[in-house]
Amino acid sequence: MASGYPYIMMAASLQESVDLVAALADPTRVRLLALLDGHELTVAELTAVTELSQSRVSTHLGRLRDAGLLQDRRDGSLRYYRLQEEALPKRAGRLWAAVRADLRDAVLDGDLERRAELLAARDEEGPWVETIAGRMEHHYSPGRTWEAFARGVTSLLDLGDVLDVGCGDGMVAQMLSPRADSYVGVDRSDKVLAAATKRLRGHGHVSFVLGDMHALPFADESFDAVLLFHVLTYAEHPQNAVREAARVLRAGGRLALVTLASHPHDDIVERYGHVNRGFDTKKVQRLLRGLELEQCEVTSRERRKPHFQVITASARKGES
Ligand SMILES: C[S@@+](CC[C@H](N)C(=O)[O-])C[C@H]1O[C@@H](n2cnc3c(N)ncnc32)[C@H](O)[C@@H]1O
Repeated sequence: MASGYPYIMMAASLQESVDLVAALADPTRVRLLALLDGHELTVAELTAVTELSQSRVSTHLGRLRDAGLLQDRRDGSLRYYRLQEEALPKRAGRLWAAVRADLRDAVLDGDLERRAELLAARDEEGPWVETIAGRMEHHYSPGRTWEAFARGVTSLLDLGDVLDVGCGDGMVAQMLSPRADSYVGVDRSDKVLAAATKRLRGHGHVSFVLGDMHALPFADESFDAVLLFHVLTYAEHPQNAVREAARVLRAGGRLALVTLASHPHDDIVERYGHVNRGFDTKKVQRLLRGLELEQCEVTSRERRKPHFQVITASARKGES
């Protein structure tokens, strides 16, 4: 059966077929293949792009190479990995082509964006900081995190008596309370307040109170600063919540508000227990009427899809 011979040569045993499918049956390995499809990258570069640990990336690369899905080559001390379609065993190529055809994922979008930046930086010459000039916020360097930046900035603050509305588990309190004379967190959930109390244990000037942002359990003009951070998306009556925040502010005190900008995703509203789909800047300005507006703008946009945006606003209470 002459015509059957080539078929037998190309055929795969049950075990070989299962091994090939198993090599692909992992989201990290599919991420790596997508990144290496037509591009050559080192382990360090893949680690930077995926933000996974180096050992995890190396382990998965080894598995993919053993399955014949990747090629590698050494250049001096560097080892480059690549998926070269022409070099793949035929059935591996067909399987990868089928997987790749329908691949749509926010994680992958972020990976491909970072790969493009990395490849662009590779072509440029000069010290590392010069190659990323103008795009520094998108690049990692050791210790240069948003948290480190926020902690540096907060060291300049002198907040007086602070009320943190919808304080959650005290993460913001932990960051800001060292800059306050007193710090009160209010939240409607006793579970998150228990976590906040535990987190801030030993900080005598910090306290937590059960309460509703629509009817704050505090006297008029009690605080120098009121925070409404990521809480208005939970407000059935945002205007009442802001009115309450303004009421408990002292004259000259400031209200800081951070909230999700309006978006069309009902599934997110449901998943996070929000009661609205965020706000636009005009709406926030209207909410703050009666206070002296200092700032109200979209200040950040998430890099990953669907690119949620955040509004930051601040306003001062005038002398009455
Ligand atoms: C997303 S968390 C924000 C926590 C914190 N402000 C931050 O930025 O990390 C929202 C918090 O608001 C609280 N919350 C929701 N509705 C509230 C209400 N009506 N009154 C007080 N707190 C409320 C929730 O329990 C939750 O802890």
